[in-house]
Amino acid sequence: MKLADNKATLSFSNGSPSVELPVYQGSVGPDVVDIRKLYAQTGMFTYDPGFLSTASCQSAITYIDGDKGELLYRGYPIEQLATNCDFLETCHLLLYGNLPNAAGKAEFTKRVSNHTMVNEQMQFFLRGFRRDAHPMAIMTGLVGALSAFYHDSTDINNPEHREIAAIRLIAKMPTLVAMAYKYSVGQPFMYPKNNLSYAGNFMHMMFATPCEEYVVNPVIERALDRIFTLHADHEQNASTSTVRLCGSSGTNPFAAIAAGVACLWGPSHGGANEACLNMLEDIQKMGGISKVGEFMEKVKDKNSGVKLMGFGHRVYKNYDPRAKLMQETCKEVLTALGLENDPLFKLAMALEKIALEDDYFVQRKLYPNVDFYSGIVQRAIGIPVSLFTAIFALARTVGWIAQLNEMIGDPEYKIGRPRQLFTGSERRDVLPIAKR
Ligand code: ACO
Repeated sequence: MKLADNKATLSFSNGSPSVELPVYQGSVGPDVVDIRKLYAQTGMFTYDPGFLSTASCQSAITYIDGDKGELLYRGYPIEQLATNCDFLETCHLLLYGNLPNAAGKAEFTKRVSNHTMVNEQMQFFLRGFRRDAHPMAIMTGLVGALSAFYHDSTDINNPEHREIAAIRLIAKMPTLVAMAYKYSVGQPFMYPKNNLSYAGNFMHMMFATPCEEYVVNPVIERALDRIFTLHADHEQNASTSTVRLCGSSGTNPFAAIAAGVACLWGPSHGGANEACLNMLEDIQKMGGISKVGEFMEKVKDKNSGVKLMGFGHRVYKNYDPRAKLMQETCKEVLTALGLENDPLFKLAMALEKIALEDDYFVQRKLYPNVDFYSGIVQRAIGIPVSLFTAIFALARTVGWIAQLNEMIGDPEYKIGRPRQLFTGSERRDVLPIAKR
């Protein structure tokens, strides 16, 4: 963090003395005004619901330029990572700051593979859930429960514990998601197969049964790997901020990541691809492409409460770069599976075309986000809609843990404690119950 040449001056119309606030420069992106001493100097807080104008930390992991539609992990554009690297290379990059060479990649892959199994006792914990439980309810429970199984990696202040917890989480998330799925369909859990790739092993645990050999389809393997890469990190979004805030109390990494899973579940965040696919299916049931115009009228009517799911983003005010890559993958997967004429894909293309030309969307800078196409890809692969957010959680785990570890290693890190503008009752006295 570098001090800028200029300072900010905050002045007040009531004659209170003005205060000078330091300004810091990042390597790229907007400068920040340092308000840490504001309360001590003025007795005032800043007011910023949703933290839309507040940098809660300094970070060197992910950079987004929402106006340009640019996403960089450790400086590398997402397009290059998604095309030239696989998910485990991306994990290495996010965790350690560099892309591994061939030997480093083999070593990291081996380290992750060594931890893909989960404690056998976890399946008994899982069996306590109803078979129809939402996978995100199961995942919130299972990830939190990891802290009850791996006591030797729960001290967040110990760098070795943090490292092993990171590897364990990356390695075990596919196993847990696949177990949640197998449980819901009443099939036996499949143990991981470490000679497969990260995505291939996930497919094996999801779709294989003990009765017959399962052959990984390379197009689907590549598509899943890309879904993981595109979702691996996204700087200080709601779930990542939740992980940081939760971890700032010194709680163990598994508990902090479970908090992230819980936050991701919401339909405005990770639940959006599920909501998007449900929306496409609803329009399809209403009559498909012929009803797109009618549906769009509802979206634009503020009283209808209907949103075009998979559109709009808090940060991107341009095309989400991940959506372009996902659209490409979507075409590849549908072609490989002979589903080129998939009606939902055609419907999505029609909605996208109308939205990109419609004044309502153009004026508000609403573009497709990554979720717009990822649901169609996952559905084509055979992943049930209710599992979409769990797959997002699987992929985002590396980002959460990288951000958590960065925070703990930051000498300026403090327990998170936002302030408030209090608008409730002033002090009053409790009346005896008969007089209330
Ligand atoms: N459909 C219709 N109108 C929308 C949409 C949408 N998807 N998104 C935003 N708008 C409108 C709002 O109603 C608002 O209109 P107004 O100015 O007339 O009141 C304007 O666009 C600005 O919207 P905000 O809600 O202020 O935008 P914000 O940046 O806060 O919200 C959000 C971003 C929550 C993602 C929103 O666009 C949304 O709900 N989208 C649909 C859900 C979705 O796809 N979420 C995925 C996010 S990406 C992710 O988590 C991986």
